[in-house]
Amino acid sequence: MITDYSQRLIVQEVAPRDGLQIEPKWVETADKIALIDELSLAGFSRIEAGSFVSPKAIPALRDGDEVFRGIQRQPGVIYVALIPNLKGAQRALDAGADELNLVMSASQTHNLANMRMRREQSLSGFGEIVALVRETSRETSRESSRETPVSLNGTVATTFGCPFEGVIDEDLVLQIVDAYLELGMQGITLADTTGMANPRQVYRLVQRVLAKVSPGQLTLHFHNTRGLGLSNVLAAYEAGARRFDASLGGLGGCPFAPGASGNICTEDLVNLCEEMGIATGIDLPHLLRMSRRLPALLGHEMPGQVAKAGRNSDLHPAPENLPA
Ligand code: COA
Ligand code: ZN
Repeated sequence: MITDYSQRLIVQEVAPRDGLQIEPKWVETADKIALIDELSLAGFSRIEAGSFVSPKAIPALRDGDEVFRGIQRQPGVIYVALIPNLKGAQRALDAGADELNLVMSASQTHNLANMRMRREQSLSGFGEIVALVRETSRETSRESSRETPVSLNGTVATTFGCPFEGVIDEDLVLQIVDAYLELGMQGITLADTTGMANPRQVYRLVQRVLAKVSPGQLTLHFHNTRGLGLSNVLAAYEAGARRFDASLGGLGGCPFAPGASGNICTEDLVNLCEEMGIATGIDLPHLLRMSRRLPALLGHEMPGQVAKAGRNSDLHPAPENLPA
């Protein structure tokens, strides 16, 4: 198959959520808001701006309500919130999230570790959330205070492997995708929570899922834990996927998955796309400036590579005294 690289690739920036959730250093609410506001000007159409989970589970994001209320929304940007349960959904709706990203793991063990409940309990909670969102959308459309109804995305965490259970059955992933679609969710994310995916597996599973949903509905979420993050992006793109999560600086990781490390790095992904002629609409110099300020905010180096190496076009002066 010949890949059509003229097809745009959509990046959803997840640093304010996946990126910050595992950081040991507390980031002030005002700094989170400033980060999101600056990301909003970089050309992203989607930003996962926080989560509404138990503050005991993820203390770093306990201020999600103030963050969502404090950001300066840019037209055309969808601000997404990660949600585990009905209480989180209510908080996110109250704070004005545009999209709820409901998360459950394919692995029963990881769901128990991460969400403290069985998959069946997660799914039944999602049913209640769908009903709540429909009711809220009816009310707000009557008051016409909102232009578009809140949308729902379902994430299948540990799709490509689980640090506790190992291999995950692809048929199980497809069953969860079916369950999400039956609940009426518009979007599906396949998440490689601890970087266990490989390009061949990604290509195969993306093809199977794209038999059920359109490319505009499917997002791939890769972590670069074993260095395969961008290879997996290309495999997914070649199989027809067009939407990808990525995190500024390569921040990120699930605190309830041993060995978790950063998401694929946004500026590295955008650089890859620029070099290959794949449009993203994202301002790479703007991202690089932002990424280079992260060590000062968080107190450590970032895993991202292009912020350190520079772009191919950042040329160095030739050494003096070169032989003639
Ligand atoms: N927002 C705020 N508080 C919440 C909440 C939410 N979405 N859900 C539950 N809580 C509070 C409850 O009110 C209760 O508070 P209390 O102790 O003051 O009474 C406490 O948390 C325990 O509630 P319970 O329903 O028993 O939750 P739990 O301890 O079984 O944990 C989850 C279940 C899902 C809330 C928790 O595991 C969680 O938040 N996980 C998300 C982890 C995560 O974000 N991982 C990374 C992203 S994938
Ligand atoms: Zn993640």
